[in-house]
Amino acid sequence: MNKCTLIAIIGIALAAGNAHAAGDEKAGEAKAAVCAACHGADGNSTNPDWPKLAGQHPKYLDKQLKDFKAGRRVNPLMGGMVAPLSEADMADIAAFYASKTRSGGFASEQRVALGEKIYRGGNAKSGVPACMACHGPTGAGDPLGGIPSLSGQHAKYVAIQLYAFRDGERGNDPRAMMRDVARWMTKEEIEAVSEYIVGLH
Ligand code: HEC
Ligand code: HEC
Repeated sequence: MNKCTLIAIIGIALAAGNAHAAGDEKAGEAKAAVCAACHGADGNSTNPDWPKLAGQHPKYLDKQLKDFKAGRRVNPLMGGMVAPLSEADMADIAAFYASKTRSGGFASEQRVALGEKIYRGGNAKSGVPACMACHGPTGAGDPLGGIPSLSGQHAKYVAIQLYAFRDGERGNDPRAMMRDVARWMTKEEIEAVSEYIVGLH
């Protein structure tokens, strides 16, 4: 086999692998019908306790579903929801929500200054790193690096997750990346940065 043929075969194999991992949006839409009650028909939930899934990176969504199923992330509402899902179902559902557009939000004025300071610069004194270093200046995250998008997410949901990382109730973050961030945060900082994130876009 010459070099060109080998490269062509590897190329085809990689493309096939990606197509599978990417999931099928259309199939995902039907499979996500049961999720709409909480997450909204287009992935924009209205209850601030429940995360918006619209526009989230498929790789991140897929990982969360697998983590709920394996018990690496624990939530009483989600545990039952993922139990019947196969790996293909999860990939399809992730592709469906990723294709939707996330609704925006407005940060409340009150604590925006402190929130912005933490998001962009962290707190050098207590050791909180800048969120922007990983989640990016607009909160877009990194689709391939497993960093979720935060822009426009409900403040209440974001705060719940930060408390959960801080108190060790959520521990599915690779290399404890988020637990190491949240452990140094005060209640004021958590509430302020969560409110700031709502308005990020
Ligand atoms: C009864 C309400 C409810 C239903 C129905 C529901 N969810 Fe959830 N979902 C939640 C809650 C609450 C959370 C946040 C859990 C936490 O705090 O860790 C969540 C979290 C998630 C997350 C993690 C999002 C993130 O940003 O990390 C994904 C992905 C998800 N749900 C997908 C689904 C899918 C797919 C279905 C349908 C098969 C579904 N959910 C059905 C309530 C629900
Ligand atoms: C070193 C990189 C890094 C830094 C710095 C960082 N994060 Fe994260 N963050 C991550 C990763 C990776 C995840 C996904 C964890 C997983 O796979 O479950 C995440 C997840 C989150 C989540 C959960 C999102 C969801 O949909 O459930 C929130 C909220 C969050 N980060 C907020 C913040 C805030 C606020 C800051 C700054 C105070 C911050 N992060 C700083 C890497 C980082």
